[in-house]
Amino acid sequence: MNNRPIKVLVVDDEAAMREVLEMRLQEWGFDICLAGDGLEGKAMAESFDPDIVISDVIMPQLSGMELLRDLKAGDPDRPIILMTAQASIDLAVDAMKQGAQDYVTKPIDYTKLRETLKDVEQEIELRRESRKIRTQLDRGAGFGDFIGTSKPMREIYDLISSISASDASVIITGESGTGKELAARTIHNLSLRSKGPFVAINAAAIPENLMESEMFGHEKGAFTGATAMQTGCFERANRGTFLLDEIAEMPIALQPKLLRVLENRSVRRVGGNQEFIVDVRVLAATNREPREAVEAGKLREDLFYRLNVFTVALPPLRERNADIPLLAQSFIREFNQKHKSHVESCKNETMEILKAYSWPGNVRELRNILERAAILAKGAWIEPSHLPPYLRNSPAPEKGARTLSPQGVTAAEAEKELILSTLRLTNNNKAEAARQLGLDVKTIRNKLKAYGIS
Ligand SMILES: Nc1ncnc2c1ncn2[C@@H]1O[C@H](COP(=O)(O)OP(=O)(O)OP(=O)(O)O)[C@@H](O)[C@H]1O
Ligand SMILES: [Mg+2]
Repeated sequence: MNNRPIKVLVVDDEAAMREVLEMRLQEWGFDICLAGDGLEGKAMAESFDPDIVISDVIMPQLSGMELLRDLKAGDPDRPIILMTAQASIDLAVDAMKQGAQDYVTKPIDYTKLRETLKDVEQEIELRRESRKIRTQLDRGAGFGDFIGTSKPMREIYDLISSISASDASVIITGESGTGKELAARTIHNLSLRSKGPFVAINAAAIPENLMESEMFGHEKGAFTGATAMQTGCFERANRGTFLLDEIAEMPIALQPKLLRVLENRSVRRVGGNQEFIVDVRVLAATNREPREAVEAGKLREDLFYRLNVFTVALPPLRERNADIPLLAQSFIREFNQKHKSHVESCKNETMEILKAYSWPGNVRELRNILERAAILAKGAWIEPSHLPPYLRNSPAPEKGARTLSPQGVTAAEAEKELILSTLRLTNNNKAEAARQLGLDVKTIRNKLKAYGIS
């Protein structure tokens, strides 16, 4: 677990110095091991396997600088702090260049040493944490290319695996960037059609007047500019899967023709009179509520029912922020490869900000923000300053919002206060508040109704 005490190796040839440090470090809760010179220090580094080494510079046998070099060659991540009585800028510069974490002068300023150790301690904890997450990623912390182990995502994985094998149509819904296209590709990859093509058409990205020929193809001379025969997406998707992305943006006039194609399983190119049989599984995606699109007259009801054999509704990221550390680590790994960087992880404060943010752009936004941060970070850690300002300034969770005054409050009042403050912390996300409180969403809804709050 993360609570294992941090082990510190102190190397100094002066017995009195060792004793003082031992006393202080023990007081601060560290696990201590002492060595009287560089050689002994080197041996102990192997047997004791310390998390941190604090070493004097001038010592008989192996000097502190030599020890630093040796230990860094073995484990470049282990922080080493050098201390010396003969303060010299050259030595300090040299030590930092060789990878020393810090450099302190004797007599030691214990307040400063304590602070340095606190920083180092946090890094060690984070390193342990990110190592744990990486192991989790290696074991497969998701499904196909999906990352995430939260309950709502596990439900999505179950649903996708059970509907993939069939040939039924699916409507995939979810806010922008929640992984709708990823879901469509996953369904295709898991289906019997996986060897066939996956073709996607984005109804929002194609001008209305070109949509029909894009989808169904056209014959030579079908319209001005149709200088050659062109097959459409439907034909190209033959024996595979066809994704109608942004289905609610599909020109309404074209929707009856689409419905006909789905029912007859055959297409006729624009300007042609021959029907081509196509064997295609059709998936549709939308970031609108499809029933609302039907009511708004953007999506024909008959087409909606034809497509909506199954619905996969991807949850927004803010409803599964428990997945953020895993997603972040997986993106960091990807960008380390892409940019040849060596980012280890996010600092605690950074992760707090990421978890508190509401993510209107969902996973895509998280991915973009981390790519930017990984480039800015340069070193091992993503700090809050590497995040865009609008994210840093978004309201942080109120500290202590959950402490209730224990006296003079009825249980019902305390419950109300707890529910409301949890809702504030979750940006009024009832599902997340319910999860944090271990309650049913329905219970929360009923309570709110009882409080007269909608
Ligand atoms: N759970 C996830 N794990 C890993 N990557 C994800 C996950 N969800 C989404 N992504 C990644 O986020 C990005 C956006 O996903 P995708 O394009 O599938 O979203 P979308 O819902 O289709 O978005 P839009 O509404 O803007 O079309 C992609 O890079 C995708 O790989
Ligand atoms: Mg998409």
